Amino acid sequence: MLFTAPPDPVLEHPSDGRKMRVLYSEEQIAARVGELGRELRAELGPGEITLLCVLKGAFMFTADLARAMSGPLHVEFLGVRSYGDETTSSGAVQITHDLTAPIEGKHVVLVEDIVDTGLTVRYLLDTLRARGPASLRVCTLFERPSAGSPVRPEHVGFQLQGHEFIVGYGLDWAQRLRNLPYVAEIETR
Ligand code: IMP
Ligand code: MG
Repeated sequence: MLFTAPPDPVLEHPSDGRKMRVLYSEEQIAARVGELGRELRAELGPGEITLLCVLKGAFMFTADLARAMSGPLHVEFLGVRSYGDETTSSGAVQITHDLTAPIEGKHVVLVEDIVDTGLTVRYLLDTLRARGPASLRVCTLFERPSAGSPVRPEHVGFQLQGHEFIVGYGLDWAQRLRNLPYVAEIETR
């Protein structure tokens, strides 16, 4: 089931005077992450799965997703920078930390925080496919369908309805606010 309706907006705390409101509570996120973990295991079967965490944004999601999955599991990290300190896509993708183990013959799940324009995930899929995984799929906590991504992730936690910029649960605004345990919309001005 896809959750699309946010809870009633609650004014949380201001950051530099910017207004924020909670869109997804800790409880909502935990429930959906649990479902995604079970969904991945059901689709990929009982064998070994490699969760490939796209840093930095997906670190918290990956940690919870891994705990929501039973059976043999490996975790790898890929450091990627697709944004400067701005809130709009630059289109440029830079790998800042590569995998430490080959993924050839592995069942790989690329774990993303958000698929926005899809430029990042498209670049990563092209790069990773060339390394010969047995299967490769995308699990993203958030998707912004209105941004017109050329890639449709197989597993999506929540779809964002508009162009709201979100922070928390690993997602940043200028490297800040990743530590919020919930996801909030932040005023970008
Ligand atoms: P894309 O290449 O445009 O799909 O951008 C993907 C990356 O942009 C994500 O992994 C995030 O790091 C970042 N991003 C896009 N939208 C947001 C947002 O609303 N909040 C925080 N980061 C975002
Ligand atoms: Mg980011």
